[in-house]
Amino acid sequence: MTDRIDIKFAALDSKLAQTAVLLAGPDVALGSVGRQLNDRAQGKLLRAAAAADFNARVRSTVEVLAPDRIDIGRVVLVGIGAGSDLKELDWIGLGGLAFAQASARKGSDATIVAEVADSVEAPPDLAAMLAYGALLRSYTFTKYRSKPEDEANSNGEPPRKLRSLQILCADPNAARAAFEQLRPVAEGVFLARDLVNEPANALGPVEFAERLQPLARLGLEIEILAEDRLQELGMGALLGVAQGSDRPARVVVMQWHGAKSKKAKPICFVGKGVVFDTGGISIKPAGGMEDMKGDMAGGACIAGLMQALAGRKAQVNAIGLIGLVENMPSAKAQRPGDIVKSMSGQTIEVHNTDAEGRLVLADVIWYAQDRFKPRFIVDLATLTGAIIVALGKEYAGLFSNDDRLSGELFEAGTVTGEKVWRMPLGKAYDKLIDSKTADMKNIGGRYGGAITGAQFIQRFVKDTPWAHLDIAGTGMDTTRSDINQSWGGGWGVRLLDRLVADKYEKGEKAAK
Ligand code: BES
Ligand code: MN
Ligand code: ZN
Repeated sequence: MTDRIDIKFAALDSKLAQTAVLLAGPDVALGSVGRQLNDRAQGKLLRAAAAADFNARVRSTVEVLAPDRIDIGRVVLVGIGAGSDLKELDWIGLGGLAFAQASARKGSDATIVAEVADSVEAPPDLAAMLAYGALLRSYTFTKYRSKPEDEANSNGEPPRKLRSLQILCADPNAARAAFEQLRPVAEGVFLARDLVNEPANALGPVEFAERLQPLARLGLEIEILAEDRLQELGMGALLGVAQGSDRPARVVVMQWHGAKSKKAKPICFVGKGVVFDTGGISIKPAGGMEDMKGDMAGGACIAGLMQALAGRKAQVNAIGLIGLVENMPSAKAQRPGDIVKSMSGQTIEVHNTDAEGRLVLADVIWYAQDRFKPRFIVDLATLTGAIIVALGKEYAGLFSNDDRLSGELFEAGTVTGEKVWRMPLGKAYDKLIDSKTADMKNIGGRYGGAITGAQFIQRFVKDTPWAHLDIAGTGMDTTRSDINQSWGGGWGVRLLDRLVADKYEKGEKAAK
């Protein structure tokens, strides 16, 4: 992330910046800003909005320039409709939209007024939610532009001049406190976005791992396992993928002990971190291959999640593990037909070197169970093109051996908008990866490619509750929204943070 926006909370009667954004329902009430006007000026402002056909529908906007009797440049009204059916995510989105409106206009500072008409039921921490949405939207990745200020960014968005944002609200202290729990999550999302957007020449396995080291300042315990250690552990599947690259593999283990008892069973998150996926000897076609710099989006999400959990001091013991490799063709690369031995002892015939993510996960998931005996494992991986065919870019594929964990993930997905859709697993699919010569092969044939990928991973799961999220469609080239305009959207950080917050933190909930 390049330039960070400075967000402050202030009382409703504070001075407005040159751009003020107001939330407006059908009976457009100007609230505190109205009080800074007389009746005639209020009437004029409302007439101007009406003349521009502003009807306050949700997400509609109108700009009123140089409003009468008030010493600011413009008022932007953002519609919230009746407001009654708006959910948390909608309010956060409105914060993002308000930010976008403000930042598209002149000036380096702006005001968002977190106030709605009495008739509207807004959440108690509306100001913090708007701030959170604005912060998420403010992310840009411009470090590789030599003239970042003069040019539109990669999404065609105008350059951002906005540097600071005040949120006016009834109780700035309460808003600040609520925002302190949200800001670390946004920072985790930013870390994930940064890692996904970073090109592979700058971010190999070693560099990725090094980038996480500073997170120790948050109280995370960070271990980086180098190749000799991975060899000792017997991670033949992961190392087989890495052997075609000049850049050595790494596994990062990030531990957060935030539960009352440091010894309470942890929950585990595992990410695929293929820093670049050429396909290996089963090389991919050239068109679009540049996107394979994002094949570490699962790992990036785990890094962002751990930053979020530590940043907000989540009351949970959580471990994040990332398998980092580069999948390259070379004279040293593994061949189709090669048989490798995984840490679990199971052997794998590599039919297609482009089905590499599952080979990496097989060893890291085994290691996670072996070492941490976790309550559950969730793995995230940009695993298959097939999941994009099945679900498009709206939902990630969810595969699980556990109905409860599945349900919890589905719920967290609905709340955060990082949605997951459950897909089947079963014996008949599992059979498709049987091999003539080894315990299994790494592909299943033409049909059900996302499912056979998941079946493969399941062969490395013992009796631990486990969920696999295939994020090939959501982790990179993430759908743009009010709170994300970046190719690397940091997908999954908010989802998993929410899963933890709602179901695995603190007393009763966590004890279940
Ligand atoms: N990283 C790819 C999957 C992918 C595709 C991610 C498109 C994002 C966008 C993965 O390693 C891969 O190559 N999968 C193969 C599996 C096949 C060989 C069984 C695929 O999907 O084609
Ligand atoms: Mn691949
Ligand atoms: Zn891949």
